[in-house]
Amino acid sequence: MWKGRFTESTAAVVSDFTQSLDLDWELAPWDIAGSVAHAKMLERIGILTSAEAGKIEEGLARIRAEIAESTLVPTRELEDVHMNIESRLIELLGPVGAKLHTGRSRNDQVATTMRLFLRDRLLNIAEGMERLLAELLRNAAKHKDTIVAGYTHLQQAQPVSMGHYWMAHFAAFSRDVSRLFFALDSLNECPLGAGALAGSTLPLDRSYTSSLLGFTGPTRNSLDTVAQRDYMVDYHSFAALFTVHCSRLAEDFVIYSSREFGWLLLPDAFCTGSSMMPQKKNPDVMELIRGKTGQIIGHLLDLLITLKALPMTYDRDLQEDKRGLRASLNTVDQILAVLPPLLAAVDVDGKHAVEGLEDGFALATDVAEYLVLKGVPFRDAHAMTGRLVKECIARSKGLFDLSREEWDELLPEAGDDLFPMLALEKAVERRKTYGGTSPTEVVRQIEHGEALLSAQRARRAEFVRTVKL
Ligand code: ARG
Repeated sequence: MWKGRFTESTAAVVSDFTQSLDLDWELAPWDIAGSVAHAKMLERIGILTSAEAGKIEEGLARIRAEIAESTLVPTRELEDVHMNIESRLIELLGPVGAKLHTGRSRNDQVATTMRLFLRDRLLNIAEGMERLLAELLRNAAKHKDTIVAGYTHLQQAQPVSMGHYWMAHFAAFSRDVSRLFFALDSLNECPLGAGALAGSTLPLDRSYTSSLLGFTGPTRNSLDTVAQRDYMVDYHSFAALFTVHCSRLAEDFVIYSSREFGWLLLPDAFCTGSSMMPQKKNPDVMELIRGKTGQIIGHLLDLLITLKALPMTYDRDLQEDKRGLRASLNTVDQILAVLPPLLAAVDVDGKHAVEGLEDGFALATDVAEYLVLKGVPFRDAHAMTGRLVKECIARSKGLFDLSREEWDELLPEAGDDLFPMLALEKAVERRKTYGGTSPTEVVRQIEHGEALLSAQRARRAEFVRTVKL
């Protein structure tokens, strides 16, 4: 393509080293969509006749089919997807094909292709996130009255509703959806017309190209356009935090499904066995989700490190942006394929889940707060209840095992009105503070979550409608 300036042909090792076909050949459909819009714009401004633009569109459609059927095989001498397609077009159309690249550089072209590709992939991910959120809502409604141990420091803390637990993960994942849409918004401007870096002497109608491709408008600064990959960083940031959230969920499942906890029931279909130990049922899916998270974080760092200290504007380093992006997208797709059906099949053994709470110590805060309502300053109430627990431990008894005489001896302030409160159901039910674990609060959270989810569905549908090519 640049032979005019050169006296030697490119060394074979250089072609091998600089080619990006292993990374970008799969981007052909999006590259072609960008080229079709560019040709239509060139026709509109009178650079192409409508006959020429029509031929180019037909040629590109044919190339799209040839690629789909694998009859067009790219060559590394033509470096990348862009030049392979253009060269095939020239082969098919002659001089008319040679007009397509007018007013365009691979720098604004690749930026457009990447944004179109990423937009489609992110809209798919948004759909997967909806499935995930829907399963969490379903589980939350099913388990709103199921009581389980709540932990801090992985030590028993207070009883909570399992519905509340599911909604905690819902809260994290719905923030991830906001970040996903932030990435979608940030990619949704059209680079075409930025040229190599400075724009064009030709009267390119950038707004027209942009509207043909379903972008909200052309990018505002041509130097920045070919230099920046912020929208990819935004995707990677979403993916990193999303998989961190998945990883924490996975870790909980590994712990709660272990024999020692044993109240989270993982379905056989989502577990694997041991090649040696016949009794084993392992939570490998959860471990792999946890294990893959590091790579996703790595892809974010990879791109940030590539961008750091790159001179304004385009530099060939940017070609490497595709490697991590593709790997990350594929992993996120895999996680979103397995996690929603796993959540649909998971169950809770409600009886087993409270066995560890038999001693009643998880209700010590309730006792202290009871004293507060009797006028005891909280710090004193805390110390008095702490002493009560210490004495129970010394006598090998739980709070629930104390006789009335022992209460009178150890905590004379305890009146008859305390005892009805000392039950796990009551402890959960009474935590009615906004966002708390009471089933009535959980129901409110679920209702809010349902509204959030339908707003997300509507937002995706609207996005899909406006970007349809
Ligand atoms: N394959 C290149 C990339 O992915 C396309 C742009 C190359 N531009 C250039 N001037 N060498 O970034």
